[in-house]
Amino acid sequence: MRVLVVYASKHGATEGIATFVAERLRKGGVDAQARAADEGGELGEVDAVVLGSAVYAGSWLKEALEFAHRHSEELARVPVWLFSSGPLGTEIQDAQTQPKQLDELQRTLHPKDHRVFFGALDRDELGFAERMMVKAVKAPDGDFRDWDAIGGWADAIAGQLGD
Ligand SMILES: Cc1cc2nc3c(=O)[nH]c(=O)nc-3n(C[C@H](O)[C@H](O)[C@H](O)COP(=O)(O)O)c2cc1C
Repeated sequence: MRVLVVYASKHGATEGIATFVAERLRKGGVDAQARAADEGGELGEVDAVVLGSAVYAGSWLKEALEFAHRHSEELARVPVWLFSSGPLGTEIQDAQTQPKQLDELQRTLHPKDHRVFFGALDRDELGFAERMMVKAVKAPDGDFRDWDAIGGWADAIAGQLGD
């Protein structure tokens, strides 16, 4: 059972989630690897794909959307799970919960699940425009990734593989 965990990440928080999911799947006996969405190349022989993106201004990153588009035929043949890494803080507000492209992704990829995970923000790593945006929406600084929730989701995926 070979699983690819593909991610699009601007500042590393989503990459961390993808790496953690792949590690957790491996602990469950699954041959899983994390890989950046813009790495290119063939998907190869895969039995399932987990695809996740950071959410910026309500949208998935273009690398993740391009990956979904580029590999739509292969993805149609295997089970797919999606995740978004976005909201900061510990409470999800309605407007933030789903990326704008989710309906379209659901129509084309028919994922088994889409999960939103809290993200992380280090103000020192942001460029000027991003800092202004974050200031305007008063986004809190910090690492809000919920490793229990992420690990539990990975375990649920491991449990469904091969169903
Ligand atoms: C400029 C900016 C805009 C953001 N916009 C959103 C948003 O619309 N919705 C959301 O849930 N999170 C938003 N976030 C939070 C990021 O998605 C979060 O920090 C994420 O974990 C970053 O992932 P990355 O480090 O992999 O790029 C924004 C963050 C920044 C810096």
